[in-house]
Amino acid sequence: MGNKTSSIKDLTIVVIGASGDLSLRKIFPAFYALFQKKLLPERFQIIGFSRTEMNDDIFRNKVKTFIAKENIPLSEMDEFLKKCFYCRGKYDAFQDYERMGDLIRKLEEGHLSNKIYYLAIPPFLFLPVSNALAHSNLIHTQEEKGVWTRVVVEKPFGRDRESSDELTAGLQKVFREEQVYRIDHYLAKEVIQNLMILRFANLILEPLWNRQYIQNVRISWMEDIGIEGRGGYFDEYGIIRDVMQNHLLQILALVGMEQPIRLEADYIRDEKVKVLRCIPPVTLSQLVVGQYGPGILQCKKCEMKHGYRDEEGVPKDSITPTYAAVSLFIKNRRWDGVPFLIRAGKGLSKRTTEIKIQFREVPGNIFAETAPQLTPNELLIQVQPDAMIALKIVNKIPGLSLVLGESNLDLSYESAFESRVPDAYELLLLDVIRGDKSLFIRSDELESAWDIFSPVLLELEKKRIQPVIYPFGSEGPYTADLLASKYGTAW
Ligand code: BG6
Repeated sequence: MGNKTSSIKDLTIVVIGASGDLSLRKIFPAFYALFQKKLLPERFQIIGFSRTEMNDDIFRNKVKTFIAKENIPLSEMDEFLKKCFYCRGKYDAFQDYERMGDLIRKLEEGHLSNKIYYLAIPPFLFLPVSNALAHSNLIHTQEEKGVWTRVVVEKPFGRDRESSDELTAGLQKVFREEQVYRIDHYLAKEVIQNLMILRFANLILEPLWNRQYIQNVRISWMEDIGIEGRGGYFDEYGIIRDVMQNHLLQILALVGMEQPIRLEADYIRDEKVKVLRCIPPVTLSQLVVGQYGPGILQCKKCEMKHGYRDEEGVPKDSITPTYAAVSLFIKNRRWDGVPFLIRAGKGLSKRTTEIKIQFREVPGNIFAETAPQLTPNELLIQVQPDAMIALKIVNKIPGLSLVLGESNLDLSYESAFESRVPDAYELLLLDVIRGDKSLFIRSDELESAWDIFSPVLLELEKKRIQPVIYPFGSEGPYTADLLASKYGTAW
């Protein structure tokens, strides 16, 4: 958040797992966009490391193809590609990291450079790779001559509190906590970043932002795609670990937290931890789970879609949820009794992420008889597909008689702002370079998030709770609607 620019010197970026989907689709295009905007230091190099047999030229061509798919001007592409190098290696082979060390020193040409290691690899490789980097002397735990080393990791951070703690402890043997940047890319989405500004840089919302005026908060995350070839990964984790425990709890924390003392990473994260710690662990009675079966996706040329159990890499009797809905409660003075309803699902009718803040009825409303059908105010914060904020108000419909209707005061980003909304990864990578950790997850945040879901995840597996099957392309299982109606609302 704050623009804490550290003394940026030469920079070496090492992307481990460089031939993978995340690297090619997200990381390299984001570095290119930063290069294009002149936000990378004068002297930098990016080394891709992975097992695939490739030379620099083949690698550069691959990178180029993926960058070309993004909506970024390509004028400086050749200059950028000249800074990209490839090193083939096995993830646990020390000698391969030593070869990479030689390449780094050669490229540094006698200048010391700051180092970023981006671990774009599955989590079971985090520790072997970190140990190999440390063994090959590629990590400096203390800043030497003002030169730093940082490591970037992506979820899943474990499967539950216990395995997450083990991972944290393992990483902390090699890196200090300050050096670890745990990405949750939702935190860098424009509208999510704006949550703090909306709440704390405006006067009008905060006085209403509490149990006295708010009836419920609903956070919906829906995708109209299935698991897209990630059967092996997804069946091991499921939707709660994939999306709820991280992206959605982070959104909830930003909606529910108190104002940080100052705009500094640790103060912001302190407040998020506090609010997460006020949420008791979820029990089975607060949760519904679903799984997509075969169905027809209407919006895309009426395509027939497989059910989850027919996806590659998924066992025929899998009980892994592809949909979950839950009611959470924040037990503090601001929020006690206000349900936070959260749902996430794949294989649904549309792609959307939105937050709805439902206000209470107007007390002693003199218009209640004139327009009994009207519902109370609601603030909609839509993250995607189109960034938007809209406040539903009751308004007189122009005319000679008194007719009331619901209208929206709305802000659509597309029509209000000219600039291209940058991809979340651009900002995250820039923040790693700047050393700003506001948008990264601290280890205690991770612990509190796991504490909310770990017990129920264990119970789901132990009792082999069957998910309710819903057709691909639908609105999800009916049980999610029942859950919302229990709190007098609908999604
Ligand atoms: C990832 C999940 O974290 O977020 C995926 O693992 C999901 O399952 C993706 O599809 C969605 O990200 P975005 O930015 O496209 O909403």
